[in-house]
Amino acid sequence: MFDSVENVIKQLGEQGYICDKRIATVVFLAQQLDKPVLVEGPAGVGKTELAKVVSQALGREMIRLQCYEGLDEAKALYEWEYSKQLLYTQILKDKVSETIGDSQSLTEAAERVGQEDSVFFSNRFIVPRPLMQAISSPKPTLLLIDEVDKSDPEFEAFLLEILSDFQVTIPEIGTIQAQTQPLVFLTSNDAREMSDALKRRCLHLWIDYPNEELEVKILDSKVPNIADQLAEDLVSLMHKIRDLDLKKAPSISETLDWARSLMALNAESLDEAIASDTLNVILKYEGDVAKAQNELSKMLEQRAAAKKTEVETPEPASPAEKKKGILH
Ligand SMILES: Nc1ncnc2c1ncn2[C@@H]1O[C@H](COP(=O)(O)OP(=O)(O)OP(=O)(O)O)[C@@H](O)[C@H]1O
Ligand SMILES: [Mg+2]
Repeated sequence: MFDSVENVIKQLGEQGYICDKRIATVVFLAQQLDKPVLVEGPAGVGKTELAKVVSQALGREMIRLQCYEGLDEAKALYEWEYSKQLLYTQILKDKVSETIGDSQSLTEAAERVGQEDSVFFSNRFIVPRPLMQAISSPKPTLLLIDEVDKSDPEFEAFLLEILSDFQVTIPEIGTIQAQTQPLVFLTSNDAREMSDALKRRCLHLWIDYPNEELEVKILDSKVPNIADQLAEDLVSLMHKIRDLDLKKAPSISETLDWARSLMALNAESLDEAIASDTLNVILKYEGDVAKAQNELSKMLEQRAAAKKTEVETPEPASPAEKKKGILH
């Protein structure tokens, strides 16, 4: 249980998730008000990870529903296990024959089989899918409805129903009401605009790329052995690359991948050769790599020019300036 916004920041930090007050406030309110959170933002900024760390911090099991085009109620809520029903019918064949044995007509036989419906339409033959698992769980859970923008609008309408009632009605069995309301996180990459009705039911959280200070902290948390200088240079270059007009801007996950790659190559700082050799770790389109390469060369030229001026007009450098890396 989170008892304050600061406590959210602290507890998520212990799980390796670095967040600012804005994110922590939404998480805190979601818990206090029992409201779902709709998390939107570009790919790789930590939307899914946020749900995971909240579930760990609260000690709740996370139940995940991965959305995709064509996802329907049967895959999200529950399905009848037809093969098992069929198997039972086969095994109980003799009993079924006994039941309908002396029927005078087909209608009467069907009527008698119908009276035994509950044998074949019971909990025994239900396959619970994520929404039902979250609703029927006796313990409080965290339900992650991931990439909801990939599902169809009809499915979104169905989700609205679930999110307002937290109950499922199975015509053959009855209504199952959640014993403890799950904490719900929905994530979206903005593939399509979510409906106003869904937004109204949720607290809205937009996660953008972090500022440099926060990203260095994330890097320190996820790649603990990284040298300070390398972390700062890398994040600084990453921010400059994000400002370029790219087909796919690199995200936090790419920053982490890049840092891990550079460490695997034993790099202590970011020089031009190693940076350009590894740009493909963070950029997935050739055109983007060329643009970043250009930017990198420009930055290095500026640095060389700045150094030249420094040599021509030497001034006693402060320790802070001495510490600055190639990209400043
Ligand atoms: N604030 C953060 N603190 C620590 N790690 C983070 C943070 N934000 C993102 N990450 C890391 O970045 C990576 C990508 O995060 P995640 O998969 O949650 O992104 P996403 O927004 O769900 O992306 P997508 O839209 O592609 O699913 C993960 O490895 C995660 O650990
Ligand atoms: Mg995700």
